[in-house]
Amino acid sequence: MKTKIFALFIFSTFLLLNSCTEDEDPIPPVATATPTTQTLTSGGTTSIALTSSVTGTTFAWTVVQTGVSGATAGSGTSIDQKLTVTGAVAGTATYSIIPTANGTSGSAISVVVTVNPIKVTYTADIKPLLVASCTPCHLSGGANPNKWDNYAATKSKISVILDRVQRESTAAGFMPRGGSKLSAANIALLNKWVADGLLEN
Ligand code: HEC
Repeated sequence: MKTKIFALFIFSTFLLLNSCTEDEDPIPPVATATPTTQTLTSGGTTSIALTSSVTGTTFAWTVVQTGVSGATAGSGTSIDQKLTVTGAVAGTATYSIIPTANGTSGSAISVVVTVNPIKVTYTADIKPLLVASCTPCHLSGGANPNKWDNYAATKSKISVILDRVQRESTAAGFMPRGGSKLSAANIALLNKWVADGLLEN
């Protein structure tokens, strides 16, 4: 009887040890983000693919955004988020991604997305502003030989334009002649066009 019980004890101990070795902790997944950094223009969408060393890995991320809006925590196998700068300067969104497989999490990896502000262009910003404010004198068919509905003419006269629109509205040579002073935002837009490189498009 005693021998039987002892044998049973040995056997069950063996089973226990055996089951322990079979139940080894799963190897933590190693995450890879492609690309590891990204640069967007404001209003653009991230495109970051997440893969892992272990099949069936899931990914969850958190994000810290500075000067950017639109980034949110989430999960999935790719990060596709529309990011917009909140100010006039570039911002960043730093994602921290944790892979998990078979109940085990791997180390977090991070991806930094830089978001640049949209540059001011003649076609999108400057032409509509000048066409609205300098009509009809400086448009094709208008009395003044300087045409602000023409990129080359506007670009070549931008410093004179800035001088005239920043004068006091009562000063000689103030532009728009007979009109009211451009808003501070519109004058800032003209200055930013210069700073951004006088782009046409
Ligand atoms: C009502 C007509 C009229 C409007 C509107 C007008 N201008 Fe003029 N502009 C003139 C006349 C006339 C002259 C020539 C006299 C002078 O130089 O002041 C002129 C001259 C200029 C010059 C000098 C060009 C040179 O070669 O020296 C600039 C720059 C200018 N305008 C910019 C503007 C801008 C920018 C606007 C709109 C925000 C504007 N003007 C609106 C009539 C107008």
